[in-house]
Amino acid sequence: MKTYLVTGAAGFIGANYLKYILARHSDVRVVVLDLLTYAGYLGTIASDIDNDRCFFVKGDICDRGLIDSLFAEYRFDVVVNFAAESHVDRSIDNPQLFLQTNILGTQCLLDAARTAWVMGRDEQGYPTWRAGVRFHQVSTDEVYGSLGPTGYFTEQTPLCPHSPYSASKTSADHIVCAYRDTYHMPVSITRCSNNYGPYQFPEKLIPLVINNILESKKLPVYGKGENVRDWLYVDDHCKAIDMVVTQGAPGCIYNVGGHNERQNITIVKIIIDTVRQLMTDEPAYRSLLKKPVKGADGQTDISWINYDLITFVKDRLGHDQRYGIDPTKIGEELGWQPDTPFEVGIVKTVRWYLDHHDWVEAVSGSDYQLYYEKMYGGR
Ligand code: NAD
Ligand code: DAU
Repeated sequence: MKTYLVTGAAGFIGANYLKYILARHSDVRVVVLDLLTYAGYLGTIASDIDNDRCFFVKGDICDRGLIDSLFAEYRFDVVVNFAAESHVDRSIDNPQLFLQTNILGTQCLLDAARTAWVMGRDEQGYPTWRAGVRFHQVSTDEVYGSLGPTGYFTEQTPLCPHSPYSASKTSADHIVCAYRDTYHMPVSITRCSNNYGPYQFPEKLIPLVINNILESKKLPVYGKGENVRDWLYVDDHCKAIDMVVTQGAPGCIYNVGGHNERQNITIVKIIIDTVRQLMTDEPAYRSLLKKPVKGADGQTDISWINYDLITFVKDRLGHDQRYGIDPTKIGEELGWQPDTPFEVGIVKTVRWYLDHHDWVEAVSGSDYQLYYEKMYGGR
């Protein structure tokens, strides 16, 4: 039995990863550490916490005393660090919190792991490590900066972040590599492109657009909507992390992405079409509309769910133009490839949000309404 510390697993990708590994590895037990910030919701993982193979601890990755006590109690073999402030727009508003959580939090976890896992020294003075331990950092393609119309990010692309968020994630990556190079710590890093799927907080583009349609709100597209993101279904990211943690060589870095680049405006149009189609095929979904209006046929009208809902708003400051991942290395070395084509994943995702509108309402309380007003009110 291996024991994992998984941080940030009450958030979007961490929760999907928790479900993924609990379902696939009966010989793994997991301690979830999450501060339950606005982005963390315990309800998402409530059914996974059984106090037998999965335990939950509410706490901060910056709290060294707490982390040390968890290492002493559970004797972790693996740390997978998802915990982060993850939203670029919020980082433009409040950079300091991003540096605190994403950089100092990662360093706190690394150092606690070093204290717990070092067994002795080799003849050159490098630490020797308990067998089988691994520190995995969940990073992002945003560390590479922005691409022009051609080319891809490889693992050799120089790091060149632009937003406070991506700069903080880059710093964290550098610190992880510093522990690898200075202490020979067995670390790994994955740098993934934009994820989509169940349980993503509604501040992010795809759930925001779905939710706004249900609320009959305009769909805010930054700038001209021509920025390109490379979308990957969240389970394919979870599979990649699992493969890297269990099969990747210590010290390795892998890019993760499925060559699915789309302009933002295309994504928004696909969501509009998908919502309208699902409500046509299954009229019961129309009951989710906040402001239903009856059509001539007596049914709730959905003809207004069209591209006229799109509104172009003031651009994000420093908005990266294009991300595009070259995933050759993880494919060739570990045999990873994505399972979910975008056309399938996006319908699955829109349907999930319609089927789980209670989840959206539970996570988007009054704080989210205030955030939305502040972020989009004068835009
Ligand atoms: P998220 O914002 O949905 O979840 C973050 C989680 O971390 C939340 O549960 C939150 O409560 C927790 N958290 C925040 N600060 C904490 C702290 N100080 N201590 C403990 N827990 C804390 O984020 P996400 O989209 O699931 O992203 C997870 C990780 O994956 C992040 O590191 C992010 O940089 C990275 N990533 C995200 C994407 C994406 O498309 N969303 C793509 C590539 C990489
Ligand atoms: O690339 C990986 C990154 O993807 C992760 O590291 C981040 O944690 C994650 O949040 C995501 O960052 P983005 O900034 O790309 O995601 P977001 O959903 O915020 O925006 C996607 C694109 O859509 C981006 O170009 C900005 C644009 N956008 C976003 C919002 C919220 C809009 O046009 N309108 C919006 O209202």
